[in-house]
Amino acid sequence: MIKKGIILAGGMGTRMSPLTKAVNKQLLPIYDKPLIYYPLSILMLSKIKNILIIVNKGQLEQYKKIIPDGKKLGIKITYQEQDKPRGLPDAFILGEKFINKDNIAMILGDNFFYGQSLTNMLLECVKIKKGAKVILHKVINPENFGVAVVKNKKIQSIKEKPKKFISDLAITGLYFFDNKVVQYAKKLKPSKRKELEIIDLLNKYKKNKQLSAEFIGRGGAWLDTGTIEDFYKTSNFVSAIENQQGFKIACLEEISLKNNWIKKKSILESIKFYGNCEYSKYLKKIIS
Ligand code: DAU
Repeated sequence: MIKKGIILAGGMGTRMSPLTKAVNKQLLPIYDKPLIYYPLSILMLSKIKNILIIVNKGQLEQYKKIIPDGKKLGIKITYQEQDKPRGLPDAFILGEKFINKDNIAMILGDNFFYGQSLTNMLLECVKIKKGAKVILHKVINPENFGVAVVKNKKIQSIKEKPKKFISDLAITGLYFFDNKVVQYAKKLKPSKRKELEIIDLLNKYKKNKQLSAEFIGRGGAWLDTGTIEDFYKTSNFVSAIENQQGFKIACLEEISLKNNWIKKKSILESIKFYGNCEYSKYLKKIIS
């Protein structure tokens, strides 16, 4: 079972300036909570309790104000700073000590997942012992993502943001790796855009026939919140679901309670921490 996860939550957020000049993108709101809550909830739904959050240099204090150490959630959060965006595989180089001898899940701080069978899929993915696993989802704009060509549920090839159409299956920002990932990441060379590329890392596994895929079907949603337009789209999605059904997406305390990681007492502490707001009202409802 994978028991450790990394959230890569750095980046300059240049596409969203001026919003991101003072505040990191992952702390901006998706409807009623900071973006970071959503990828964190995905790791927690995968029953991962030991989490490293990689943040931009100089922005650590912002994060600690909202998620200090995970105690109130019954999990362990540690932070590490990245001095500049060196590419997604840099997470495994920066996180080498944290990963140690274990397998690892990684989620990008700006990725949003939702769907009924999602938790079951996550609990299957963390069972991975050897190799790497990616999560694929059909999109109408594959040129904006890493994509995979798939035949009989097997990955034939992968490419980062192909200009010419090769597949409409995007590689989402959630990955599961065996411990070799650290070794492979260290061997990567920066690409033309001077970044280490996740596709190059995945290709190392592909070469050894150790790259597999899971699929988010039509009933599931995956949204990359890379642009301001995407932020509003995702916010509208969360608002529609939450206000129609009356439950919250990515309520971290609720997930912890359901996982039996915390007791009512911790929720009361969280209510005190958040103060008088809609989120606290929801927390009161789940423990009443
Ligand atoms: O969202 C899925 C896509 O994410 C994949 O389909 C692509 O294969 C993958 O390369 C990535 O593409 P993006 O263009 O969306 O990556 P971006 O540079 O926007 O970075 C994604 C997140 O990771 C963002 O929240 C910032 C953070 N990040 C990124 C880099 C390069 C860091 O924290 N440090 C970094 O060095």
